Amino acid sequence: MTPQALIELAKEAMHHAYAPYSGFQVGAALLCADGSVYQGCNIENAAYSPTNCAERTAFFRAVYDGHREFTALAVCGGKDGIITGFCPPCGVCRQVMREFCREDFSVYIAGPEGQYQTRTLAQLLPDSFTL
Ligand code: THU
Repeated sequence: MTPQALIELAKEAMHHAYAPYSGFQVGAALLCADGSVYQGCNIENAAYSPTNCAERTAFFRAVYDGHREFTALAVCGGKDGIITGFCPPCGVCRQVMREFCREDFSVYIAGPEGQYQTRTLAQLLPDSFTL
C-alpha cells in the first residue's frame, strides 16, 4: 500500500472523531504486516485526560484483533476536520508505537494539499524505553 493510500484512509477516519471539546479532529490508519488496515479517531471526554488519540485507537483495535506486527501508520488532523498543518503523534502515542513496532516503523504525517512528512519511529522517539 502506498503512503498516499494510507493517508486517504486516515483522512476518512478523521471524520469519525468524537471531539466536542477541542473541535480538533484526528484520523489514523495503521498498516499491519499482513496488509490489513485499522483506522482510528480521537475520542474525547468531559474529564479531558481520558481522551484517546486517533493513533492509539487504531493500535488498540488492531491489537485486540490479534495483530502484533505493524509496518506503517498515517495520521492527519485539523480543527473541524480541515487540515491546515501537520499533526505529529503525541508522546504517549509514540510510546505505544514503541511497544509494538521496530525502530524502522514508518509514520506518514499528512499536511495540506497532499503534502506529507515521513518519519521513522527512531526519529520520533530516540533512546526509547522497552523491557
Ligand atoms: N490528538 C490525537 O488524536 N492525536 C495526536 O497525536 C495529537 C492529539 C487529539 C487529542 C485531542 O482529542 C485533540 O487531538 C486535541 O489535542
